[in-house]
Amino acid sequence: MSDTPFSAEIMERLAETRRVLESIDQAHLLDHAEDCSAESIEALLDHCEEIDLAAAHRIMRDAAETEFKAPPLDSIRPAASIPRHPEDEDALREIGQKLIDEGKVAAFTVAGGQGTRLGWNGPKGSFPAAPLTGKPLFRLFAEQILAANRRAERRIPWYIMTSPINDAETRAFFRDNNYFGLERTDIFMFPQGVLPSYDDDGRFMLASPEMIAVNPDGHGGSLRALRKSGAVEHMKSRGIEQISYFQVDNPSVRALDPLFLGLHLDPERSSGEMSSKMIPKTSPEEKVGVFCSIDDRTCVIEYSDLPEELAQATDDTGKLRFIAGSIAIHALSVDFVDRITDGHNAQGLPLHKARKKVPRYLPDEGRTDSPETPNATKLEMFIFDAIPLAGRSLVYETDRVEEFAPIKNSEGVDSPGSSHELQFERAARWIESSGHEFPRDADGRRLANVEISALTAMDPADLKSSPEVPDTISPGDQLAI
Ligand code: UTP
Repeated sequence: MSDTPFSAEIMERLAETRRVLESIDQAHLLDHAEDCSAESIEALLDHCEEIDLAAAHRIMRDAAETEFKAPPLDSIRPAASIPRHPEDEDALREIGQKLIDEGKVAAFTVAGGQGTRLGWNGPKGSFPAAPLTGKPLFRLFAEQILAANRRAERRIPWYIMTSPINDAETRAFFRDNNYFGLERTDIFMFPQGVLPSYDDDGRFMLASPEMIAVNPDGHGGSLRALRKSGAVEHMKSRGIEQISYFQVDNPSVRALDPLFLGLHLDPERSSGEMSSKMIPKTSPEEKVGVFCSIDDRTCVIEYSDLPEELAQATDDTGKLRFIAGSIAIHALSVDFVDRITDGHNAQGLPLHKARKKVPRYLPDEGRTDSPETPNATKLEMFIFDAIPLAGRSLVYETDRVEEFAPIKNSEGVDSPGSSHELQFERAARWIESSGHEFPRDADGRRLANVEISALTAMDPADLKSSPEVPDTISPGDQLAI
């Protein structure tokens, strides 16, 4: 028994929460309540109320119906895509830039993930991603926004989705870094929702005496979080019409891409609701979702859900048929987000299940068990499941070196090492295409490494007359400009 008797108010809240939990067969979460201190039990009750466990239980129970299911094989076709250099490229770029200049575009970073594979102790956005200076991901995006502000002669708002798990740390990181030179009032952070993980008997678990074990509800949860946080209303009141969506772990992303926005706004090609970028997959095994077309609607099928037969299929020339890999870069209209998160549609995206190792607090033993093999299921929503909800959705092909250098794992594929290599290669290409010499060996391998800040160049053209580019880059040089 607790030494401190609980107040009447706590007793009342405890009874109410117990009633809710009993109605959904999850009352075990309060079995240890009587042994808790008043502070602990209050924290646990707060957490239970915050999560809305009854709604979470409904979601878990219905997951079998709302779960993504691969459609019949013969209904899946490759999605068509727009080539990297459309013939009206310059005109499109101007249209996109005009929208930015008019203050109608916001940058939006989703940074609520747990980053378990990378194993970085802190929000992923604080990871030192730049290959020479070690600038963190958030600074790299901030520099792009500062450069875009300069070009547009206005301040572009930046929305950032965190999760309850990393929100405080993310805010502190921005504060400690003086908002990376941006106006504090142009940055809007909000946490995404969470869902309880559950064990093989469908039971929610405790993470500690005061907390339920939860996971962020996926990058697809960003749409609901945009609405719930008031960001959608906020955007509308500021005259924002389009959202440039990207994920926190890709240092090479173009935070605001005029050409992509121009394409997205072209009524001949898109309904202007949700557009995407893709890169050609290098192998059937590459772990990216694939753009497909089902009943004439564009969609993405996650690599783990794409039937093997389709993943391996090639055309007459030996090229992969399902080659368009999703790199999680999208343009979304504010009206579209508003529409699909309204009322009934608020829970609209399918749920994807993933097995996971979830540390579990065992009240009887007073300790936390950290399993070595997956012991629980987590449910998540994926952003690309919103694509089929758009009227007509466009897929634009881009280049891996130019725009996709993800940092997901601590080593190997999609690691800091592979990302650095891609960032260096892009910088070398930019220098070359701006008319400067870059040292390479006879096989085309770089003999020097350069890191380019967005404040120096947003694209190769900016390097043409930049005083930052030295007259000569010599073999062995390591240069941050
Ligand atoms: P990932 O799917 O790579 O997941 O997220 P993760 O959580 O970062 O890393 P692992 O799987 O635990 O190793 C891709 C992007 O989506 C964001 C991430 O922050 C990253 O920018 N994301 C993911 C969210 O914002 N919320 C989520 O619930 C999941």
